[in-house]
Amino acid sequence: MPKLWTKVDRYFCDRLAPIEAEDVFEAARAVNKKAGLPGIDVSRLQGKFLELLVRISGARHILEIGTLGGYSTLWLADALPENGRIVTLEFDARHAETARKNLRNAGVLDRVEIIVGRAIDTLPTLETTAGPFDLIFIDADKQSYPEYLQWSMRLSRSGTVIVADNVVRDGKVIDANSRDRDVQGVRRFTELLAAEPRLSATVLQTVGVKGYDGLTLAVVLR
Ligand code: SAH
Ligand code: DHB
Ligand code: MG
Repeated sequence: MPKLWTKVDRYFCDRLAPIEAEDVFEAARAVNKKAGLPGIDVSRLQGKFLELLVRISGARHILEIGTLGGYSTLWLADALPENGRIVTLEFDARHAETARKNLRNAGVLDRVEIIVGRAIDTLPTLETTAGPFDLIFIDADKQSYPEYLQWSMRLSRSGTVIVADNVVRDGKVIDANSRDRDVQGVRRFTELLAAEPRLSATVLQTVGVKGYDGLTLAVVLR
């Protein structure tokens, strides 16, 4: 099946998100590859999904946790209105530097603030200066997803959209006895979601060029 998932992903991608001449997204991927960054950014169709979430929600103020080379940041930034802003948090200074280069090349760096450090240390600085956010994309270390959800609640308002990547991971998520800290993180994240009356949430399982995984989608009710 993975082969078919890839073909189908390409079929839709070619039609709905075709690569343009001087495509800033593909350019960013090339820069990331050259810099030796891991190729774990969202797929092109998933990037398009993030773009659509920004447009559907009318988000003007976005928080991203886990920048890597700024590929997903580009999709989010590209969909923002003129006065929109993104804050993106990244632990690795080299990843952040590569992201800065990609965002500058794409002409959107002026609407992005990259904060370097462990997200758990930099999130508290946002409480007084930057919140609330309209959309929050969680995509850093999976073992900290529970903490990221708690911070997301503190940095949101009624109507804020919260998206989290990689919550299925080939189905490993259903293994309660897993020793994998990423799996345990996603499981605790899901339990927290379930116990939070201020959130309404679902999961979209996904297949495609990145294999079998899934995205959590949630909205803050009050
Ligand atoms: N959102 C990106 C992919 C992010 S990959 C995209 O789709 O293009 C996950 C990133 O989170 C990596 O760059 C990693 O360095 C970063 N990361 C890992 N642990 C972190 C932490 N504790 N705080 C902040 N960033 C972290
Ligand atoms: C990994 C992280 C991601 O955000 C992703 O989309 C895929 C893989 C990882 O850490 O392996
Ligand atoms: Mg991810």
